[in-house]
Amino acid sequence: MLSHEQNAELTRVGAGTPAGELMRRYWQPVGPAAELTAENPKKKIRVMGEELVLFRDGSGRFGLVEEQCCHRSASLLYGFVEEDGLRCPYHGWKFDCTGKCIEMPFEPKDTRLINHVRQRAYPVRELGGMLWTYMGPGEAPELPRWAQLLRKDGVRRIDVLPLLDCNWLQVMENSCDPCHTYYLHAHTLVLKGKGDMGTYYYRPIEKMHFEIVEEANWVGVRKQRIYGGDEAEEEDGHPVIFPNFLLSPQREHLVMHMRLPVDDTHTQIYRYQFTPTEDGSEVPQPNQVPFQNVPPLRDEYGVYHMNSFASHDAMAWETQGAITDRSRENLGVSDAGIALYRRLLREQIKRVQEGKDPKGLIRDPKLNEYIDIHVSTGQARVARDQKRQSA
Ligand code: FES
Ligand SMILES: [Fe+2]
Repeated sequence: MLSHEQNAELTRVGAGTPAGELMRRYWQPVGPAAELTAENPKKKIRVMGEELVLFRDGSGRFGLVEEQCCHRSASLLYGFVEEDGLRCPYHGWKFDCTGKCIEMPFEPKDTRLINHVRQRAYPVRELGGMLWTYMGPGEAPELPRWAQLLRKDGVRRIDVLPLLDCNWLQVMENSCDPCHTYYLHAHTLVLKGKGDMGTYYYRPIEKMHFEIVEEANWVGVRKQRIYGGDEAEEEDGHPVIFPNFLLSPQREHLVMHMRLPVDDTHTQIYRYQFTPTEDGSEVPQPNQVPFQNVPPLRDEYGVYHMNSFASHDAMAWETQGAITDRSRENLGVSDAGIALYRRLLREQIKRVQEGKDPKGLIRDPKLNEYIDIHVSTGQARVARDQKRQSA
């Protein structure tokens, strides 16, 4: 149980809030690069409560700027993308990808104003077909080079899920909650006659136990279901990479769930799917990673379809409330992972408040050449195997 103040501290993501400042220390995913095309080179996005415009200029550089123009606040979303930047639709001030003003058409040629104004902007990088931004202070840490983003022995796809109407922490707490699969996913599917999809998780409860471990190595939480009795089996783990990623094996795919806090009451999930080739052989990689928008998980009346893992989870997360009231909860022993994740979160918030780097940031490029977190054991490996890296 958390007081209202404690709940606010862990959930709110606006600039200046404790969790918001923590999340701003990590590179955040802001969408598939393939979404920005020559025909549609700009897009409005909201990240941690900030209204922004993401664009790709005529030379292929990515920019992320505050939506409201620093001249007189018109929306840059309606601006014109040019070779070297984005021009405001109101009076034509032009900004480059770093937010520097490079043209003020109606000001005197020798105006000094142009050197004084700056559009708020955040750096954007592309890796593995995703765009990433860093919205924190100071020098950005390394953008993590996770194996899934770099491997060449398979194909990738990005699923953009419908925007969730709930706070990001509900989604992350679920990632540390190994018991939820039994009823929410398996039981639901078996009752719907889709046992083939659900039976894996549908084993006698008394023979099931869970292991939840904090992984200091790469900073995260690994949860694992262990099945006993005749069906003794240790399921692959589902490591949470702190603070807002989950790795999970799904049949032949390896999925990285990336959870972007859009604002306090909305979360965007990108399901980044990597399908390795059976024999481990490398395949030619396309210029861009394809993406698809996942259709709504609810019908026109707002009723959840309950026919997929995604709709089950969305039902659970959204019905908890936009920001669930944790003063009403009653945690049990089986909620150990949730308590563990909250402790991690509190500790990292404190580190940021003390002026330290939170855990999990990588500052040394040598430790960021290729990060392979094994789903089965949760072990992280920093490999320098050039063969497996993309250029
Ligand atoms: S409001 Fe943008 S140029 Fe005037
Ligand atoms: Fe789930």
